[in-house]
Amino acid sequence: MATAARKYDLYSDAFRADTYATFARMREEDPVFRQPGIDGETPIWWVTRYEDAEAVLLDDERFVRDPRLALAPERLAEWEATLPDAIKFVDSHMLNRDGDDHRRLRRLVSKAFTPRMIELLRPRIQEIADALLDPVFPAGEMELVSDFAFPLPITVIAELLGVPPADRDRFRVWSDAIVRPALAADELERFGTRMVEFAAYLHELFELRRAEPGEDLVSALVAVEDGGDTLSEEELSSMVAILIVAGHETTVSLIGNATLALLTHPEQRALLERDPSLLPRAVEELIRFDGPVERTLNRWAAVDVDLRGCRIRRGESVIVVLGAADRDPERFEEPDTLDLCAERDSRHLGFGRGCHFCLGAPLARLEAEIALATLLRRLPALRLAVAEEDVRWRPVPLFRSLVALPVAWDA
Ligand code: HEM
Repeated sequence: MATAARKYDLYSDAFRADTYATFARMREEDPVFRQPGIDGETPIWWVTRYEDAEAVLLDDERFVRDPRLALAPERLAEWEATLPDAIKFVDSHMLNRDGDDHRRLRRLVSKAFTPRMIELLRPRIQEIADALLDPVFPAGEMELVSDFAFPLPITVIAELLGVPPADRDRFRVWSDAIVRPALAADELERFGTRMVEFAAYLHELFELRRAEPGEDLVSALVAVEDGGDTLSEEELSSMVAILIVAGHETTVSLIGNATLALLTHPEQRALLERDPSLLPRAVEELIRFDGPVERTLNRWAAVDVDLRGCRIRRGESVIVVLGAADRDPERFEEPDTLDLCAERDSRHLGFGRGCHFCLGAPLARLEAEIALATLLRRLPALRLAVAEEDVRWRPVPLFRSLVALPVAWDA
């Protein structure tokens, strides 16, 4: 693999340990820069300044998610040939569509995710958070990612969808397969097998909800599919897949990253403990400071576009580096400082911008608020149980996400 051709190392463990310094160099020296992506070959434009990042995300006519709107037929055929067949069960979702198709798919679920609807979940989310801490409390220690950050959002999204929470370990395997890049033939084969399993699982679930509908989102979506041609079978399974994957991968990482940031910034944590009303703002600042979605999925240029003096040709790929934009000194004062005070302007791009702005943002915000408040309130003298340098990041290209976070408290 021709990784040497990359000026900026964006995939190795060394990069993971030094992410924000790399982003600072990119923003400064090469704010719009073309270098190979993860396969070491396909060129990608990397956009790292806030102003440019926002402009690309808002320009959803010229920067599209659906390659059929941007690639010439022979390149599209080449590109499609690289995809395993089984991907169609999970990739016909709103984040891969543009224009009317995108609006149609998003509208089907948007009502369930409004701040008002999500607020109704508060007591149940609190109950889940408390129930997770009850059994571990006496031990005075836990591995925060698997004992708390993972089961919390996956239980919430499973209940919302009407998926048995007991299956959550299986979602973890499928979800991991979706976010982990598959390049080599054996990886692609494994990915294909996992997706066939996932599709079979979903198919069975749809049959179950058809026979016995409940109050859940899957029952509602199955009824839409049965009611006419507005939702195909592949769109239905892709919708549920994106809600499961987006509904927990990201929030697990947010709870992990945010807890790490609080534990390594004791003065900021004290501020929050003194004044819990800062919490909603604090969550925004924690996303800005070390958000879980480091980069967007790639957009395709539908026409030639000039951006900061660079000509991006039709059919070329663009990735917006949200983690770099949210530390841009031209947008934020002292961007590398975590500042939970009320005056800090934290209007980050961590949930994206424009028509693909995160559908689940109200849910993610509420889950993070409850998770952090509950950890700080219930676990006296909460602290890291390993040295900060020993905390490791997952080797996935899209997310900024901890492998594990061992913590301890005075039980
Ligand atoms: C901290 C948690 C979360 C973060 C940081 C996050 C971030 C994002 C970002 C950056 C995008 C835009 C991606 C792009 O434009 O390429 C996005 C889209 C999306 N997110 Fe989230 N997300 C989070 C939680 C959730 C949750 C809990 C759900 C659902 C339950 C969700 C569902 C979605 C969906 C469906 C989209 C696609 C929207 C569209 O295409 O119109 N996300 N999210």
